[in-house]
Amino acid sequence: MLRIENVSKKFGGLKALEKVSLTVEKRKITSLIGPNGAGKTTLFNLITGALAVDEGKIIFAQEDITNLKSYEVCRKGIARTYQQKNLFPNLTVFDNVAAGMFKNIISEKERKDRVNEILEFLHLIDRSSEIVSGLPPLEAKLVELGRALATDPRLILLDELVGGLLPSETDNICEIIESLKEKELTIFQIGHEMRPIMRTSDWIFVLAEGKKIAEGTPEEIKNNEEVHAVYLE
Ligand SMILES: Nc1ncnc2c1ncn2[C@@H]1O[C@H](COP(=O)(O)OP(=O)(O)OP(=O)(O)O)[C@@H](O)[C@H]1O
Ligand SMILES: [Mg+2]
Repeated sequence: MLRIENVSKKFGGLKALEKVSLTVEKRKITSLIGPNGAGKTTLFNLITGALAVDEGKIIFAQEDITNLKSYEVCRKGIARTYQQKNLFPNLTVFDNVAAGMFKNIISEKERKDRVNEILEFLHLIDRSSEIVSGLPPLEAKLVELGRALATDPRLILLDELVGGLLPSETDNICEIIESLKEKELTIFQIGHEMRPIMRTSDWIFVLAEGKKIAEGTPEEIKNNEEVHAVYLE
């Protein structure tokens, strides 16, 4: 579904990513882990056209999408959530999710139905008219996910969607991520907390200082000595 080929990115003298190659398989949950500053978010910024690629290629569904504009990448079927809060704080839950939807392609009624369907799926329907700034952290994360889903993506990039939550809330989000896979979606997620990553991932890539140092199943990554040395200890 997504192929990153020898992608590099520098910020001045800092090599944020160095010849990184990886593949995200269709209808699987693929994860990207690694220490702070490893280059994980930078890779998402390159995929989504938020930053320009210096070197290498990004191929999505057989098509070269390297350095397309963000809205073009979104139209191709890639959506994302952000590590930092990125919602409209003074709008309602409904309007934040609706903001993800492309305008003018569907009728007002279809738009409403589609947003409500997403809110049902995320168990947010009772909060539809609440203002987002007053929401607890779990619900705010779900609104971000809802807005990404509203673009009707084939691939969804989740940057630390699970993080800073209570264990029961984390389980809740894990279940939702797993059910996205059942809806034929492909997930590429960045994560810090090992338990949810190990639980949900089909395949894991490990980045450290801009380089891919390992990949494998959760079991393989758990037992990889190099990964332990840089990360899991
Ligand atoms: N727009 C930018 N301009 C300059 N430097 C940047 C920019 N974005 C990221 N960096 C630097 O590139 C490196 C990689 O950052 P990145 O945000 O990709 O790391 P990360 O793996 O997502 O880390 P974290 O786990 O803390 O979110 C860091 O040293 C960061 O300071
Ligand atoms: Mg990051």
